[in-house]
Amino acid sequence: MKPRVIVTREVFDPVLDLLREHFDVEDNQADEIWSGETLARKLADKEGALTTGTDRIDAALVHNCPRLKAVCNMAVGYNNIDLAACTAVGVMATNTPGVLDDTTADMAWALLLATARRIAESDAWVRRGEWKTWGFKQRLGMDVHHATLGILGMGRIGRAVAQRARGFDMRVLYHNRNPLPEETERATNVHYVSKVTLLREADFLVLLLPYAPENHHCIGAAELALMQPTAMLINIARGGLVDDAALIAALKSARLAGAGLDVFEGEPALNPEFAQLDNVVLSPHAGSATHATRLKMALLAAENLIAALTGGDPPNLLNPAAGDR
Ligand code: GLV
Repeated sequence: MKPRVIVTREVFDPVLDLLREHFDVEDNQADEIWSGETLARKLADKEGALTTGTDRIDAALVHNCPRLKAVCNMAVGYNNIDLAACTAVGVMATNTPGVLDDTTADMAWALLLATARRIAESDAWVRRGEWKTWGFKQRLGMDVHHATLGILGMGRIGRAVAQRARGFDMRVLYHNRNPLPEETERATNVHYVSKVTLLREADFLVLLLPYAPENHHCIGAAELALMQPTAMLINIARGGLVDDAALIAALKSARLAGAGLDVFEGEPALNPEFAQLDNVVLSPHAGSATHATRLKMALLAAENLIAALTGGDPPNLLNPAAGDR
């Protein structure tokens, strides 16, 4: 009998075709939103799962799934998975690094440019029929070229964002737990600075940190107060890194010029004040959302699941110690 697996959200047909070569697959092509209880019930007799960042895989869940051996997230982030709990019960967890770097970096730039040049606000203004005459001082934005780009969290996506800044002749500063090797800094044209210097000097600050409890509200009122009032914040990483209430206060009081946000605390619920602000561009957690990249992510997750359940080495195993159980 083939191992039983579940795919928690709608995916592309070739992904299901590949999985069906190896497994008895329960899919969710209707893309229903399952409650935690529904997910737990459906997972209880499965050996593996293809999950997304919206599926909460916690200790209670994995303890109730005695057959479960692998949870393969179709995302690079995995803060939805309790890795320690998975390891404790021998459940392998995997993610999809690498395949979404360029697409997510493109999205960071889309948000940065849209925020700097007030694209969403102007689009709405034109649609409302409020453009009556061309004006010399109309809809003035911020220059991106030759400005200072700050990157907080310098992994693969950060480097892809930095690489794109070359075309805009920007100065690129970054802060990270560990600085990059000097030759990588030189090749990428980025300069390591303290977090305080980054906050003070960035015209555009892009967040690219993974979410972890120690990063919770790493941008709050105190950090926003260090930024220039002309600066703009771009969050393409995770909700919870930014204290959204503090950000709204800074945007309302012109302490900060603008924000481009792909992620929110408690998403998809949104602090309703965001929608009242003209100086924000809002996007529904869509950093990796292109057909080509989402297909690569799902196929990579499937490859991990197949390896995990057929005695192979999952290429993106996050908790090798799970194998010790
Ligand atoms: C998306 O947020 C991801 O982590 O891939």
